Amino acid sequence: MTIRTDAAYADELDADDPLAHFRERFVVTDPDLIYLDGNSLGRLPAATATRADELVRREWGDRLIRGWNEGWFVAPEQVGAKIARLIGARPDEVIVADSTSVNLFKLVVAALRAQDRRMRILTDDLNFPSDIYVLQGAIDLLGQGHELEIVPSPDGIYGPAADLRARLDERTALVTLSHTAFKSGYVYDMAELTAAAHASGALALWDLSHSVGAVPVDLNGANADLAIGCTYKYLNGGPGAPAFLYIRRDLQERLQNPITGWMGQKDLFQLALNYQPAAGLRRFLTGTPSIVSLLLVEPGVDLLLEAGMTRVRAKSMRQSEYLIGLWEALLAPLGFTLNSPRDAHRRGSHISLGHVEGLRIDLALINDLNVLPDFRTPDNIRLGIAPLYTSFRDIHTVVMRLRRIVEERLYEKYSGAAPVVT
Ligand SMILES: Cc1ncc(COP(=O)(O)O)c(C=O)c1O
Repeated sequence: MTIRTDAAYADELDADDPLAHFRERFVVTDPDLIYLDGNSLGRLPAATATRADELVRREWGDRLIRGWNEGWFVAPEQVGAKIARLIGARPDEVIVADSTSVNLFKLVVAALRAQDRRMRILTDDLNFPSDIYVLQGAIDLLGQGHELEIVPSPDGIYGPAADLRARLDERTALVTLSHTAFKSGYVYDMAELTAAAHASGALALWDLSHSVGAVPVDLNGANADLAIGCTYKYLNGGPGAPAFLYIRRDLQERLQNPITGWMGQKDLFQLALNYQPAAGLRRFLTGTPSIVSLLLVEPGVDLLLEAGMTRVRAKSMRQSEYLIGLWEALLAPLGFTLNSPRDAHRRGSHISLGHVEGLRIDLALINDLNVLPDFRTPDNIRLGIAPLYTSFRDIHTVVMRLRRIVEERLYEKYSGAAPVVT
């Protein structure tokens, strides 16, 4: 994509953008704030604010306990069925529950138990650290001597796809990877790696946290076994909103939830004293769902379904190419590096820019220039593009502000001490 670096060009691109009007469907209280952190916490959809009021005042305030029979009980499956449409799954293959980390734990333990004589788990060092901790905890809990192999990325940007394929063998129980890597934004070829895993008899489990609502995912097309993901990023579900899990239909009756609780029990209101798993995905529920947060996931999912993932991806690619073009022309000469894949097809919807003064520049952006990106060690300023509300002008402005911070050395007033949440 050949670009111009003037602001008028950004405005031309916005004028030409078929999704531009979706920005009005979000609550924007500070029009001057450039928000590029939708890959961590999505913006608040206006419909969510309305729904929250109705949910709390009418469904909870007025309907009280009757709410369970008026939609709450089936909400994990109903919201899951909508998310399924974004990730190429059947409606009964996705359910909303717990956090991403807890869902990963449930699926990993279930998968390892189903693969009883295979003792190896493969992942990579681009995976989200919580996922690695969960794997370590699951291995420890099972106490059967499973080994975790963390295959290194060749450059910290691209995933070690060929190396992973080469290491798959008859000892491998499970391959688990972030489909889109949280730091570099690298995207694995899900179909290819899942097929390679299956050829060796392993199961494939995908973390879709940085993919869902940002890049097209086709779990059924890839014949993926298992997946998990967050709803508070590109789905705009709200802080700490519950996560989702996917289990391919033919595996559901074979796998057992290791955290057995009454919400996963067959005929739960019989209140029998012996656990018997419910049919289908409900067996992967444990305790009472957090209904308020769960139902507030739905309006954000509806917005993405309305926009359509093909159009969302097309805009995300155009915006990422535009940002990379601006980086090349205006930021690379100031010492910024591109820490994301150059190849658009292997890149998600965020771009990481490195700089030796990365953290101090990030602090100046946030505190002095009204831009909210996020920061990931050692030097990555992560710029998240959420096509439903990020404009081309936002991208142009952030690049100009990054230039200013370096040219005027505005970062120098910061010591480099990181805040608790970056
Ligand atoms: C890729 C990825 N996996 C897992 C998690 C953990 O999610 P949770 O805190 O909901 O368990 C995150 C959180 O940001 C993430 O980015």
